[in-house]
Amino acid sequence: ATRIAVVVVVLALEVLAPAARGLRRDDFPPGFLFGAATSAYQIEGAYLDDNKGLNNWDVFTHLQGGRLGGVNSAGIAFYNRLINALLQKGIQPFVTLNHFDIPHELETRYGGWLGAAIREEFEYYSDVCFNAFGDRVRFWTTFNEPNLSTRHQYILGEFPPNHCSPPSGDSRREPYAAAHNILLSHAAAVHNYKTNYQAKQGGSIGIVIAVKWYEPLTNSTEDVRAARRALAFEVDWFLDPIFFGDYPREMREILSSNLPKFTPEEKKLLQNNKVDFIGINHYTAIYAKDCIYSPCTLDTYEGNALVYAIGRRNGKIIGKPTALHGYFVVPEAMEKVVMYVNDRYRNTTIYITENGYSQHSDTSMEDLINDVEIVNYMHDYLKYLSSAIRKGANVGGYFALSIVDNFEWVYGYTVKFGLYQVDFDTQERIPRMSSKWYRDFLTSSSLTD
Ligand code: NOJ
Repeated sequence: ATRIAVVVVVLALEVLAPAARGLRRDDFPPGFLFGAATSAYQIEGAYLDDNKGLNNWDVFTHLQGGRLGGVNSAGIAFYNRLINALLQKGIQPFVTLNHFDIPHELETRYGGWLGAAIREEFEYYSDVCFNAFGDRVRFWTTFNEPNLSTRHQYILGEFPPNHCSPPSGDSRREPYAAAHNILLSHAAAVHNYKTNYQAKQGGSIGIVIAVKWYEPLTNSTEDVRAARRALAFEVDWFLDPIFFGDYPREMREILSSNLPKFTPEEKKLLQNNKVDFIGINHYTAIYAKDCIYSPCTLDTYEGNALVYAIGRRNGKIIGKPTALHGYFVVPEAMEKVVMYVNDRYRNTTIYITENGYSQHSDTSMEDLINDVEIVNYMHDYLKYLSSAIRKGANVGGYFALSIVDNFEWVYGYTVKFGLYQVDFDTQERIPRMSSKWYRDFLTSSSLTD
């Protein structure tokens, strides 16, 4: 393309060069520089060659016309094929509308989750999905782990747009402002689904929250209250507005004007459009230690030192570490989180939408395939889940993370969660011991020890 452009320019000069009208090179000083200008983006092409990353103009120029984000018919066709194929195999799709990524243009030009435009865009996008796929989809979730993603986006700076909020100042508002927009986007989508689709399509709709368990580091009143606060900042942050129309008291007290407020209409929208189920992604527990009323020099892993920090009890961490930083094996926490959510949110149906164990990718091939740790992890967590059900929790399902090895966000491909190992060169899937154990467990009549 570059060569053709050059030829065209030369011909044009020959054919069309107008008379110099008396103007001469000598009219300019001898050292004067003449040339012809262009810029890299305007002539180079090859926008993805040689490991070049995407730039803002690449993204901008590849946008489809029409409404922001547009409706990509190839995308609709892809998901139709996927949903149909799953159904043909007897697999029920459980569809998440937003799992972290958003159109780049929404992020860069409209402020992402901090901007006002995204609410309307999400409502429109979710409507397109209900309309296109709702005749076959029985389960919808609006958002995956917005309580975790907003922290990673706007406090820890690890997810795009990679903002790091200092402990005070204006940017401390960002995670809460983003969450506010997410909650209102969620409520609008649920309202639309319930008003226009649910009766004829017969599905249900919910939201998925990441829930760690917080065990007080000591039995001091301060640490017990810190663990309670941590749950308020993690779970109640999203579920209280949905169930009770407002943020939890602990957040209102600590954040005061940094926490946005719902108008009376917004409170109604949230409360009148309750979810049909709550999705819980559960992996781990950590010790919580008070950092507001007591001296605190511990590792503030979650970056929200005002609320809690992780700790070691008698020098020990809470459970066996996994390949993800801050994720420990604590099976009994499964029962605790389920009971907590069940009791606080009125026995609403819960799905464990994620649970799993990560191995380091540099583990030997033999150990990766004979993944005894994953088998033990699933076995033990499922035991505590069944115990919560026996105690009255209303749990409708459990999904292991992950069916195959995946791209683990900031960890890239350095950790492995799959029941099936993936050879990323050949795309071959190799069943791990955990996939066989899961199959045997699902075809057995009881969970054996
Ligand atoms: C949370 C996320 O939803 C998922 O994408 C991720 O792979 C797992 N947890 C493990 O970190």
